[in-house]
Amino acid sequence: MHLTLKQTRALDLLEDHTNGVSEILFGGGAGGGKSQVGAYWLGKSALKYPGTRWLMARKDIITLKETTLVSFFDVMKRQGATGLYQYSENRNEIRFKNGSIILLKELKYKPSDEQYDSLGSLEITGGFIDEIPQITQKAWQVAKSRIRYKLDDFGLSPKLLGSCNPSKAWVYAYFYKAQKEGKLEPHKAFIQSLLTDNPHISKHYLENLRTMDQASRERLMLGNWEYDDDPTALMGYDAICDLFRNQHVPTGLGYITADIARMGDDKTVIRVWSGWRNVHTLRLAKKDTREVAAEILKLAIKYQVPMSRVVVDEDGVGGGVRDQLPGAKGFLNGSSAVKVAGEKENYENLKTQCGYRLAKRVNEGSIWVVNATVEEQEQLTEEMEQVKRRDADKDGPLRLQPKQVMAQALGRSPDWWDALMMREYFELVGNYQGLL
Ligand SMILES: Nc1ncnc2c1ncn2[C@@H]1O[C@H](COP(=O)(O)OP(=O)(O)O)[C@@H](O)[C@H]1O
Ligand SMILES: [Mg+2]
Repeated sequence: MHLTLKQTRALDLLEDHTNGVSEILFGGGAGGGKSQVGAYWLGKSALKYPGTRWLMARKDIITLKETTLVSFFDVMKRQGATGLYQYSENRNEIRFKNGSIILLKELKYKPSDEQYDSLGSLEITGGFIDEIPQITQKAWQVAKSRIRYKLDDFGLSPKLLGSCNPSKAWVYAYFYKAQKEGKLEPHKAFIQSLLTDNPHISKHYLENLRTMDQASRERLMLGNWEYDDDPTALMGYDAICDLFRNQHVPTGLGYITADIARMGDDKTVIRVWSGWRNVHTLRLAKKDTREVAAEILKLAIKYQVPMSRVVVDEDGVGGGVRDQLPGAKGFLNGSSAVKVAGEKENYENLKTQCGYRLAKRVNEGSIWVVNATVEEQEQLTEEMEQVKRRDADKDGPLRLQPKQVMAQALGRSPDWWDALMMREYFELVGNYQGLL
């Protein structure tokens, strides 16, 4: 098989066991030869090192069998190696005559197995995971930690290969952005391979891609990572970018919204508002409710915001903060949606109601987040792209993806979004503007 130039480069990285590169991402577009190179490397390695164990994985095992596994058969046929292995559909494995084995695994996120304990006992020599934006960063990390089987016998170093199309999931920051900014750690590598890098692509394939919508063409043909075409996303990318430069948004009454850190490594975010201008933002790693309450009070005095226009998220730890701020409002994420002009609004809960309403305002360009740090701009943008409808096909109230799912896609807690969304509370409960 004639590898493409990009595939050759990937293979060079994968077969050099002195370069210190252990995590390799290949692709960034459709038809760049991702599945083929992954399958080729697994097959070649299994044949070269007798008695070794290799992982072939994807989010869903059904899709794995329909795509990656088909590429594997394809590659082995082209190599004239069809007689050297046997595939067992039931056992989800490919056994080679030399004792090597390729294990087919599903890496779907399951709330009942957050730590991927199901992979816990696995020992592998190396692995290829197809379309890694669909799995969590945790799954990637756990798979990597399982690479040790017979490495020393053959003088190998751990290698985990992933493939991807452009995406705003964790892979964006973990590989793409780091590479773009020259900050990719030496143990990682990203090889971009697009359609144009693959001379083996059929005309038919190209024509299919040409008929796609604009966003998909940008992503899949041109390898543009800034496009996300998920139709369940509530806010558009351009509108989110505008958020940081909407200078036309007028000043107004002062408000403070505060989302309090709970457990793990999430952060407290406090936003000070003048009308729909977010004029100041403070992020705190502190957990002590007294300190957080004191910070809110300081800001309320500095920006002359009365306590009745301060809202603090009241779930868990936040309740303790609000108790120390007499007169402040409490925000209960799971409480019922608020009636508007006496009419019930059809949202799952208050947080969902505020999320949808705020998303509309973002799309209309009527919010300005003033002087956001580069870190906030990047992270808030990523978070807002993950604000998505859930169960759009079902009847019943409008729903949003839970925070936990957002966190899975981001690889971190969405700290910035909640305090922004909470601003909508004051439009729903007591519109002071009307009294002036
Ligand atoms: N080295 C190669 N030799 C021959 N055909 C290849 C090679 N690499 C890719 N192809 C062909 O190009 C097409 C796209 O490759 P594939 O690996 O499925 O792309 P991707 O997974 O990136 O979408 C397939 O039809 C495949 O058979
Ligand atoms: Mg593929």
